[in-house]
Amino acid sequence: MRNGQVLVKVPASTANLGPGFDTLGMALSLYSWIEMEPVEGNTVVELYGDDLGGIPTDKTNLIYKVAQMVFAEAGVDMPELRIAMYSDIPLTRGLGSSATAIVGALVAANALSGGKLGEDELFQIASRLEGHPDNVGASLFGGIVVSSWDGERAEKVRLEPHADLEVLVAIPAFQLQTEKARHALPAKLDLKDAVYNVANSSLLVAAFASGRLDLIPFAMRDKLHQPYRAPLVPGMSVILERATEHGALGAALSGAGPTLLALVDRKSARKAELEAFLLDTLRAHGIEAETKWLTPDKRGPELTAGAAGNQGSFMERIKGEVNA
Ligand code: HSE
Repeated sequence: MRNGQVLVKVPASTANLGPGFDTLGMALSLYSWIEMEPVEGNTVVELYGDDLGGIPTDKTNLIYKVAQMVFAEAGVDMPELRIAMYSDIPLTRGLGSSATAIVGALVAANALSGGKLGEDELFQIASRLEGHPDNVGASLFGGIVVSSWDGERAEKVRLEPHADLEVLVAIPAFQLQTEKARHALPAKLDLKDAVYNVANSSLLVAAFASGRLDLIPFAMRDKLHQPYRAPLVPGMSVILERATEHGALGAALSGAGPTLLALVDRKSARKAELEAFLLDTLRAHGIEAETKWLTPDKRGPELTAGAAGNQGSFMERIKGEVNA
């Protein structure tokens, strides 16, 4: 890397974790890499990876726009940028790919402008841009992030994930727009259902905070969003109802979906059974999916600043870490 370049590795995230709609997030060991530097000529956006077609490469690019917001806030002027991005996080699947782009852009642009904005300011900007703090909080801080957003300010507490927590995701081959999955939700909820979610979300946070993995099967249940989104993901209801019978600690729709997620005890002897159950259930409903075994990411974004003499291409710099 050259002087003046910065490279940020940002974790994917899963939002909601069942009952904690727009509130709970967990960072996952699946990553995007964003490199950024000011240039003299015209802005260029280089995209690497299989799934990034359709992302704009001009100044309407989200990473470019977020970077310019940071420069404006920090009072610096860097109108032309070279941006390179590689991602192992599939788009529009409920694994927080847009949140990683926002967080990566914020961290990179902040580093380029001398680190003028603190973590909290970055979190406020990211929550405002996403409209909810769950994915961006997890990608920005790593671990499990419990957050509350009142439309103006986001507050959060980060929890260290239990060392035995492992995460199985089943990523369907189809995309589901968050907007569509949010439109499926009712405008009003029954009070009983609201209480059910407050109780389970609170218990789930307490279970994570106190290391009580045994409470996850009870607490990771939801009546606020998943029942309404189930018709959008064939096979989802069966998986949510029965994953614990096949060795999961709990199962949830990852964010707005369509990815399904199971929390698993690392020491479980039933991992193959659970994986087969997820894939077979989705296939029986006509859905092809890919599974991945992940762990909670505990570090959040990792920033590398360029130094003289450290050359090579972007892909060479991240080679060995990426799935490509
Ligand atoms: N909490 C959000 C939702 C996450 O479930 O709609 C997806 O952006």
